[in-house]
Amino acid sequence: MSVFYPDLLTAMMLYDAGDPKRIQHMLKVFTYASLIGEKEGLAPRDLDILKTAAALHDIGIHNAEKLHGSSAGKWQELEGPPVAREILEPFGLGEEFVSRVCFLIGHHHTCDAVDGTDYQILLEADMLVNLYEDGLSPEAARRAGEKLFRTETGREFLDALYPEPTE
Ligand SMILES: [Fe+2]
Repeated sequence: MSVFYPDLLTAMMLYDAGDPKRIQHMLKVFTYASLIGEKEGLAPRDLDILKTAAALHDIGIHNAEKLHGSSAGKWQELEGPPVAREILEPFGLGEEFVSRVCFLIGHHHTCDAVDGTDYQILLEADMLVNLYEDGLSPEAARRAGEKLFRTETGREFLDALYPEPTE
């Protein structure tokens, strides 16, 4: 899989060409997801599913805006998986792998249906990036993260970005 990620991430950059904000969002979520997945000791195949889903997680935004006039989470979740399948097609990853990736993409705004560590980590990685990109105060970011984060590494990273005030 090691040669796969540069090709996949490049394909995603080209898909989002002209939109540096989305490209940078995608690369940050991919990096956090990879780091948390590795530090949490995910099995190699689960780690690959997580990394692939992280690279593709927001892929439904374009069609959500085009077809529904909105980038709301529910439209992204609906429109993401078919586009993800097209992008993944040339990589020959197998149906079981692709369908879990699509499931994760289709649920990445749904916090109450977590059914695996890959899913939980994707939520945490996306949230670490969104807390910053949405400009939350450190206090609000820490509170929001504490509610959602379950993995030790996710909590460690949250704490690194938004430490408890010392006084
Ligand atoms: Fe995202």
